[in-house]
Amino acid sequence: MDRLIVTGGRRLSGTVRVNGAKNSALKLMAAALLAEGETVIENVPHIADCLTMAEVLEGLGAGLSWDGTTLTVSTQGAHGVETPYELVSQMRASIVVLGPLLARHRRAMVAMPGGCNIGSRKIDLHLKGFERMGAHFSYEHGFLNATAPSLRGAMISLDFPSVGATENILMAAVAASGTTVIENAAREPEIQDLAAMLVQMGAKIDGAGTTTIEIHGVDGFLPVRHRVIPDRIEAGTFAVAACAAGGAISIESARAEHMDLVLDKLVEAGAGITGDDRGVRVAMAERPNPIDFVTLPYPGFPTDLQPQMMALLSTARGTSILTENVFESRFMFVDELNRMGADIRTEGHHAVIRGVERLSAAPVRALDIRAGAAMVIAALTADGATEISNIHHVDRGYEDLEGRLASLGAEIRREPSPWPAAH
Ligand code: EPZ
Repeated sequence: MDRLIVTGGRRLSGTVRVNGAKNSALKLMAAALLAEGETVIENVPHIADCLTMAEVLEGLGAGLSWDGTTLTVSTQGAHGVETPYELVSQMRASIVVLGPLLARHRRAMVAMPGGCNIGSRKIDLHLKGFERMGAHFSYEHGFLNATAPSLRGAMISLDFPSVGATENILMAAVAASGTTVIENAAREPEIQDLAAMLVQMGAKIDGAGTTTIEIHGVDGFLPVRHRVIPDRIEAGTFAVAACAAGGAISIESARAEHMDLVLDKLVEAGAGITGDDRGVRVAMAERPNPIDFVTLPYPGFPTDLQPQMMALLSTARGTSILTENVFESRFMFVDELNRMGADIRTEGHHAVIRGVERLSAAPVRALDIRAGAAMVIAALTADGATEISNIHHVDRGYEDLEGRLASLGAEIRREPSPWPAAH
């Protein structure tokens, strides 16, 4: 297992290119199951989660081939309906094959995903939606058995605008007989990207990106070529890193229109930000201003940038308050930041961050993808060399994070860790 060694105090400068969005690519890969033939997905990041989804699809009988960041998914042989626990436990998002499998085979057997570090991660909204379309579920030996002899269009109102539930239901509804309406749907750009590919494949969808999505079921889908949108969370991570370390960087191919509130909050913290169709430029010279923010479903402030922002605000000139509204336990990493000398108190969904002059290096762990990125950002500002272990979490969501930060001037390297990984 590897670890990252980061020596703080270097300002960042130069240009970094954003990869395709993990949280879109995973769903586009699953959607390829809907069509018989070769679907080509461009701009797929080489990250562990995409490799896990590739294994899930291979387990279902699909053939996958990579040409750089272009992935071809051949589904002629994809007759499988079972997704094993080993893969689902590695990546909860594997659950999004349920919709395409019900659409294609009218049945599926998916290992039940456990909880994770950031919350219970229930799938009740997914299942409620499928049940309204006529699916039946039973549980056996940790597996969810799903059957849908007939998949009918339905009115589905989500209790919460869940990203996964919206996507999973969408991928079944495109093949259901009649019309499905998803009310209180999630509006993330990744959902719009999925809907765009499904429409290219022949689906009939209106309202993706709004709270009401209407889907008219169709019989067949065509394999297509589709390019994944840039990763707004990765772009946000680099933007926050530049603000924390100080300096000025260009984030090529980042879409400012997908990051409105994030960029607004960074301006509030003291950053200079400009954006155009080539990307976003971020500059910061001083310690950040304290700011308050709350995480919410899109277009609210993304929960996947909350830990990175907390790392930034831990050296702000004053006290910031943040409220996490999406996941019930997404503060586990705070103890790791406090080990580096941060002064953060949490109470339920709220965190009070009293900015300190400077953090100091200490051995810390990456507890999940975004908490790992937050440790790297904190280490960029810290006095001394920080050792970050458990970085397999970082590799799940970021391709060569240390190499790209080093290209911006950071002192960061990866080395084998003498310690075994802790989950
Ligand atoms: C997606 O997870 C992303 N993952 C997450 O990113 C992201 O944090 C999340 O959306 C919110 O933006 C992928 O796209 C692979 P949700 P998802 O369903 O779909 C509750 C990252 O770091 N809920 O919108 O699982 C749930 O418990 C990851 O890249 C139910 O109660 O998120 C949570 O509190 C982390 N019942 C909230 O809704 C359900 O059936 C949001 O979950 C479904 C969800």
